[in-house]
Parts: sequence; structure tokens; C-alpha cells
Amino acid sequence: MKVTVVSRSGREIVKGGLDLHDSATVSDLQETIHGRCKKYYPSRQRLTLPLPPGSKERPTVLNPKKKIQDYCDGNLDNLTVTFKDLGPQVSYRTLFFWEYFGPLVIYPIFYYFPVYKLFGYEGERAIHPVQTYAMYYWCFHYFKRIMETFFVHRFSHATSPLANVFRNCAYYWSFGSVIAYYVNHPLYTPVNDLQMKIGFGFGIICQISNFYCHLILKNLRSTDGSSGYQIPRGFLFNIVTCANYTTEIYQWLGFNIATQTIAGYTFLVVATFIMTNWALAKHRRLKKLFDGKEGRTKYPRRWVILPPFL
Ligand SMILES: NC(=O)c1ccc[n+]([C@@H]2O[C@H](COP(=O)([O-])OP(=O)(O)OC[C@H]3O[C@@H](n4cnc5c(N)ncnc54)[C@H](OP(=O)(O)O)[C@@H]3O)[C@@H](O)[C@H]2O)c1
Repeated sequence: MKVTVVSRSGREIVKGGLDLHDSATVSDLQETIHGRCKKYYPSRQRLTLPLPPGSKERPTVLNPKKKIQDYCDGNLDNLTVTFKDLGPQVSYRTLFFWEYFGPLVIYPIFYYFPVYKLFGYEGERAIHPVQTYAMYYWCFHYFKRIMETFFVHRFSHATSPLANVFRNCAYYWSFGSVIAYYVNHPLYTPVNDLQMKIGFGFGIICQISNFYCHLILKNLRSTDGSSGYQIPRGFLFNIVTCANYTTEIYQWLGFNIATQTIAGYTFLVVATFIMTNWALAKHRRLKKLFDGKEGRTKYPRRWVILPPFL
């Protein structure tokens, strides 16, 4: 069969089209495009069915696992697909590794090295116990996230645009630096002992719970690379859809109760805002997938992220 690959403006991407065997999959088509245009490796390609001019509908995205003929709609000899270049891609693991690596390394620099001399603070710096515990707590958190990225999460998307690495690193690395600067500052005033213990104690319980939530999410997907969504059940997921975000937010709350800086609380507010938006989208997606119609399971009644408010 003949496949014509055009851009959204109608320009032919592969001159003369491509000949593929009748049982070829969309993945085979992507490999063939890559063979002809080296720059466009499969994860950089977004293939859709062309829409009639002026249509406001969303185009059908071709699933790499499906056969090309599944999209032919009657004419099995010819198919035209629309190609979009998604730009350079990196794996999700690479993206997550670099965004977490920054805070993991930057924070101890402020703790261990005479950084504050650069800011005009001469003389010895007395280190309070809370600053030491905060450094271990912080490093444990980001080390855990890197380990989870490599050994726990089963991502459904293979890659993310390279530009996201710079955007996400800017977010994590800058907040990490500012929080490290204030918590380790020579003029830092510690909270009382009880408040510190409550904060770190609560935070550690939430970090362990967050890890357990990630194990539950991991077990929703089998090892054969399936990327579908299931209803998360068990532990806090019986109450809230995004229990992993809830515990993430609470563990930052624990850190801030113990360290009490404006920078830390600002990060907590921004992270809560970001995760709330994602949680609302995830909750909506699960309710749509599990709508209780035509034999499908109905999504149970649950909070989204922060019970009893949302
Ligand atoms: N401090 C912050 O600003 C901040 C922000 C975001 C995240 N985080 C932390 O980083 C962790 C990971 O973040 P994330 O946004 O990647 O979390 P996520 O999307 O909720 O999920 C983690 C993993 O579980 C999978 N998953 C989620 N729901 C699923 C379902 N219903 N069925 C099957 N698989 C499902 C996801 O697959 P997909 O690949 O399909 O999504 C992903 O691989 C969070 O839990 C949180 O602890 C922190």
C-alpha cells in the first residue's frame, strides 16, 4: 500500500510517498520515515489523520501498535497521514534524573562549603542540628525520587521534548538553591526542638507513604510495557485519587514546619498549585475512562488531592 506523508500545510515530507506491505503497523511506517529522513526518529514524529479544511475537531493520532490498514477507512491501497515534528526528545528517565540531580547536589554545597563568604559573611558559621537534619531530609527526598524514576515508575510516554529539561531544571534547581541558601544561612534562627521533631517526624511518615503510593501505581501496570490507566486502589488511594501528590505536599509541609523559611513555604505553595492542576486532570481522565457505561467500571467517589477541601 502507498502512504503519503504530508505536513499540516500539505507539503510532502517524504517525496513520492512510501510503499509498505499490507500488514505494516504505524510503528513500521515511523521506522520507514526515519529511514528516509534521518532527523525524524520515531519518538519525534506525531502522525495523525488529515482533517477536512476548516475543521475544529481534534485529529486522530495514529497508534504505533496498530496496523496502518486500521486507519484506511475503505481505501486499502492509499493513505495520507499528517506529520508533525515534535522536536528533539529525551526519555522521561533522563528528564527526571536531571531535574532531581540539581537539588540533590546544590543543597549540600550550601551546607558543607563556605559559600556565604561569597555573600560577605566572614567568620565561623555555627551549624544548628535542624540544619543538619534538613540537609539529610532533603537529600534523602531527592535520592528517593531518582531511585523511583529508575526502579519504580512505569511511564506511559516514552519521551518528552528536550526543552522540558531546561524548563524543569530551572524550576527545581532555582528553588533548591534559594531554599538551601536560607536554611543554611549563618543568621538562620532555628525553631524550637518540639516543632522540629514534629515537622521532620510527620515529613518522614509522608515520604514513606509517598513511596508506598508509588509502589501501588507501579503495580497498576504489568511488566509487558502496557501503558493503560487503572483505578488506583488501596491505602490512601481509597480516599483520594492522587494520594501520591497528597503525600508529596504533606512531606514538604513537614520540612517547612521543621525549617520555617519563606522560601520553603513559597515552594510548597507553587508545588501544591502545580500538582493540584495535574491532579484535577488525572481525576477527570479516570472518571471519563471509568464512566460506568456499556459494562465499564464506574470510578468510585473520591477526593482529588487535598481532602476535605478538594
Ligand atoms: N514537588 C513537586 O513540585 C512535584 C511535582 C510533581 C511530582 N512530584 C513527585 O514526583 C512523583 C512522580 O510524579 P508524576 O507526575 O510522574 O506522578 P504520576 O503521573 O501520578 O505517576 C507516577 C507513575 O504512575 C503512573 N500512573 C499514575 N496513575 C496511574 C494509573 N491510574 N494507572 C496506571 N499508571 C498510573 C504514571 O504513568 P504515566 O507515565 O502514564 O503518567 C507514572 O509512571 C509524584 O508522585 C510526586 O511525589 C513532585
